[in-house]
Amino acid sequence: MTEQAWSTGVTKIVPNSVRVRGYDIAELMGNASFGQAVYLILRGDLPDEATGKLIEAMIVSSIDHGATPPSVLAARTVASTGATLSASVAAGIMSINNHHGGAIENCARQLGVIIARADGGDLEQAATDQLADWKSEGKRMSGFGHRVHSNDPRTGRLFELTREAGAFGAHCTAAMAVEKVFIAGGRPLPVNVDGAMGAILADLGFEPEVMNGFFMIARVPGLVAHVREERSRMRPMRKIDPNNHDYDGPDERSMSL
Ligand SMILES: CC(C)(COP(=O)(O)OP(=O)(O)OC[C@H]1O[C@@H](n2cnc3c(N)ncnc32)[C@H](O)[C@@H]1OP(=O)(O)O)[C@@H](O)C(=O)NCCC(=O)NCCS
Repeated sequence: MTEQAWSTGVTKIVPNSVRVRGYDIAELMGNASFGQAVYLILRGDLPDEATGKLIEAMIVSSIDHGATPPSVLAARTVASTGATLSASVAAGIMSINNHHGGAIENCARQLGVIIARADGGDLEQAATDQLADWKSEGKRMSGFGHRVHSNDPRTGRLFELTREAGAFGAHCTAAMAVEKVFIAGGRPLPVNVDGAMGAILADLGFEPEVMNGFFMIARVPGLVAHVREERSRMRPMRKIDPNNHDYDGPDERSMSL
């Protein structure tokens, strides 16, 4: 008895042909940016160049954030045991959750709640009331605050590119309102890169369920670099102190644009 066929709408493979969401892979190669291709595979259609540039900038923004994020510590710890590249990188990916890299989806959902509460009216008032409710429930506003940055260098650039792409909408506006409410409350908590991505992806119309995937897509090259460095420079099973390290890579340099 043959099993009933199941369907996939992502990529069609027949001998000598690969079509992603209908597009010939050879046509995409060299013509579509990685940002456009990521949008295509997740949404089903190719975006315009500005949107592709914005998606790609999000991916670049989160390619790495030094040696201290939990995902890097997890990947390096596993690598230090002699694990394979895939096992080590997987350990890093498994550390991407609610509080690290996974605030994108929650931020988008929370901004949606604030927008609904404002119901077309005063966003700042709605944000004030909603944040007070969440605080009394012991719930944080995802996508705000940072252990290191008081002004995340990545978010301003992302919002600039969002405006260039004509995508700055209700969620980005709500994120600005939340930032103002935190300042007014005497505890400035800046939008962090996760928060910016949540707001932007929501304004681009992405479903929340895929949003945290952007951080994973972005962070894999960084994790591979850290795992490779761990395996090539460090002693096996060393004690990894998250704070006691320095940087000995290239000095500051610029692309001279
Ligand atoms: C990222 C984060 C862990 C950094 O925290 P931190 O600077 O070490 O600050 P702490 O966790 O010590 O919190 C300090 C105070 O600020 C408050 N606070 C920090 N971030 C907050 C947020 N996003 N929403 C509401 N309150 C927040 C805490 O409740 C705490 O208040 P208290 O002193 O009254 O208890 C934190 O800001 C956070 O949980 N953010 C939301 C999750 C997130 O966006 N993660 C992605 C980071 S890129």
